[in-house]
Amino acid sequence: MKIIHLTDTHLVGFGTVHGADPAARLAGAVASINAEHGDAAHVIVTGDLTENGEAAAYARFAEEIAKLTMPVHLMLGNHDNPDAFRQIFPTAPCDDTGFTQSAIDTPQGRLLLLDTHLPGSHAGRYCEARRDWLARQLARPGPVMVFMHHPPFDIGIPSLDAIKLQEAEAFHAVLAPHKSRIRHLFFGHVHRALWGTWRGIPYSAMRGLNHQVGLNLTGPADRMLGNFEPPAYGVALITDDQVTVHLHDYADPSPDILL
Ligand SMILES: [Fe+2]
Repeated sequence: MKIIHLTDTHLVGFGTVHGADPAARLAGAVASINAEHGDAAHVIVTGDLTENGEAAAYARFAEEIAKLTMPVHLMLGNHDNPDAFRQIFPTAPCDDTGFTQSAIDTPQGRLLLLDTHLPGSHAGRYCEARRDWLARQLARPGPVMVFMHHPPFDIGIPSLDAIKLQEAEAFHAVLAPHKSRIRHLFFGHVHRALWGTWRGIPYSAMRGLNHQVGLNLTGPADRMLGNFEPPAYGVALITDDQVTVHLHDYADPSPDILL
């Protein structure tokens, strides 16, 4: 099974973000996915669909994302607005308390798409109602893969660590009894590609499409410094006993060379 991990598209209704055109970046990614990964089972967008959460930005996002030829699943990040999102995507799945959370069954396990949105904050939240939904999902047997916007841990960049998931210990307590069945944790938010393990759970994050966060390991914590490292999306190849995640520099214009 192939899954495309797309994240942090940061669309606006009109114009640019930090001098780049996020709609053009998304259009390029969509064209690349259709042309190179038309066999993907799912495309999952792990939040920050828009920069400012306005309906016009979701409408522009919808226009581009509708061109994908495979099933697409949308999640929310700190730059999103749940009400405006639902204006444009009224049939997007949600849980029984209205959070944008859903589960997708696949032959290689259940994909759990979590909603870590916290209104008015760039940090994330996973409150008791959402943890209760997750606990009920995990009560079902079988392997799972978890997708979320905010990482529940530090990654060593102070400005990002300041806006990670709150209530990380409570979140971990829900996962802990099921850890051996959690095959991978995918997240966005950090606008960087990185891989590792958290308390035994393998994870990866992917670059954003419009702008990236610099590798500023010594701070500052109160100012986020970005850059225009190339955009990318993730290509996850998942079999019964393996998860491999590739970063695809889809905008790289260099031609194939014979090695
Ligand atoms: Fe973002």
